[in-house]
Amino acid sequence: MNLLLGVTGGIAAYKACELTSLAVKAGHAVQVLMTRHATRFVGPLTFEGLSGRPPFVGDDHLAPGRAMSHIDLAKWADVAVVAPLTASTLGRIAAGIADDALTTTLLALPARVPVVLGPAMNTEMWNHPLVRRNLDILREAGRYTVVEPVVKRLACGDFGPGGLAEPAELLAAAERLAGGRGAGGEPA
Ligand SMILES: Cc1cc2nc3c(=O)[nH]c(=O)nc-3n(C[C@H](O)[C@H](O)[C@H](O)COP(=O)(O)O)c2cc1C
Repeated sequence: MNLLLGVTGGIAAYKACELTSLAVKAGHAVQVLMTRHATRFVGPLTFEGLSGRPPFVGDDHLAPGRAMSHIDLAKWADVAVVAPLTASTLGRIAAGIADDALTTTLLALPARVPVVLGPAMNTEMWNHPLVRRNLDILREAGRYTVVEPVVKRLACGDFGPGGLAEPAELLAAAERLAGGRGAGGEPA
């Protein structure tokens, strides 16, 4: 299957590398889209090495030579996963904001393309009423599946919900929702 992987600026961004590796080994084509802040945690070269495709970073979709790439990518995808999903990007998606390659492509996805969300954040952020509201908005929109974060001792030292779900669980959710599509193809 053709998998769009959105990576945002959370401490669990390194786990998106494992998710990329698992998906490629399973025969899927992976195109990574990173927020600008995600690059503070993991370098685009790591994803290029793992997926064989240079990631889109920040507003790369506006770069010369990449015109309409967000539309082409959206049409290419069988499924999208955003993991880790920060509170900030969750808010942008729930508000319908399209201000970088990731959020613009997500908004351009055809209605048939399911989106798996792997939120990960500090427990207080996870429990914040605005984060709950944004998750509810996306659940009600129909095409988004939230893979709940796990309860653990978080990097910040707090104990509670907020840890990113396991990469294998996120990939299994994507495969299930994509309906068992086989190996991926070339991006447009
Ligand atoms: C060390 C560190 C770890 C962070 N981890 C998270 C996180 O796990 N989840 C989260 O929502 N924000 C986290 N943040 C805050 C985000 O990086 C910040 O909100 C950023 O603006 C997110 O941008 P993006 O969603 O566009 O990638 C962290 C910040 C720092 C400095």
